[in-house]
Amino acid sequence: MPLAGIHRAVPAEARQTAARLYALAFDAKLRAALGAGDERLRFLADHLRPDRMLCATVDGRVRGVAGLHLDGGTAFDVTLPGLFRAYGVSAGWRFLVLLGLHREPRPDELLLDGIAVDPAARGQGLGTLLLREAEILAAERGLRRVRLSVVDTNPRARALYERVGFVTVHSERVDTLGRLYGGFTEVTDMVKEVPACPR
Ligand SMILES: CC(C)(COP(=O)(O)OP(=O)(O)OC[C@H]1O[C@@H](n2cnc3c(N)ncnc32)[C@H](O)[C@@H]1OP(=O)(O)O)[C@@H](O)C(=O)NCCC(=O)NCCS
Repeated sequence: MPLAGIHRAVPAEARQTAARLYALAFDAKLRAALGAGDERLRFLADHLRPDRMLCATVDGRVRGVAGLHLDGGTAFDVTLPGLFRAYGVSAGWRFLVLLGLHREPRPDELLLDGIAVDPAARGQGLGTLLLREAEILAAERGLRRVRLSVVDTNPRARALYERVGFVTVHSERVDTLGRLYGGFTEVTDMVKEVPACPR
């Protein structure tokens, strides 16, 4: 029986794997800014913040990750100089395209920055484990809820979020931006209240 585990950070040796899972899951969203080839994988691996990602393992191998907005930063340290080093003079517009994906967390919420599970390991509960751990982390930090967003072309992810108790708080049509980031037309914000953690 495979043994699943959950960790608060990406181990150093799994940096590449975490970047690959993220790139694969968010291929359409990231393509416009980072391309689709090796340079995207390199960029993500180089700029990943292991301490702002939860990771799920099966038999010790990282098979799922969840990016977190924590301590004023996100799961990837994206800066203009970093993009310039990787992409040269096209860094400027790439930065702007990425900026369109950026969201600011509210002070009393843990904002998730994308959950990605290895396609071969989906449907085994790893996504659920990652969401549970995010709730525990939020409660430990004295935050009141976990927030995430999901697009209309991803009904299976939405079904998972609803199953574990997330509720819709806002939906927005994003026709132009949606085309740029992979063909969706609506973004829905969902939240889950977390019980206060006894201190
Ligand atoms: C969404 C995602 C993280 C779910 O991870 P997971 O490990 O398969 O989730 P779980 O096994 O805990 O739960 C599976 C449930 O989620 C839903 N689900 C979402 N995507 C699924 C998939 N590709 N295969 C199977 N179930 C999926 C189903 O409703 C399923 O419910 P069920 O078990 O009652 O049939 C994963 O499918 C994924 O990485 N997708 C690509 C990236 C993505 O869309 N991320 C979310 C962006 S908002």
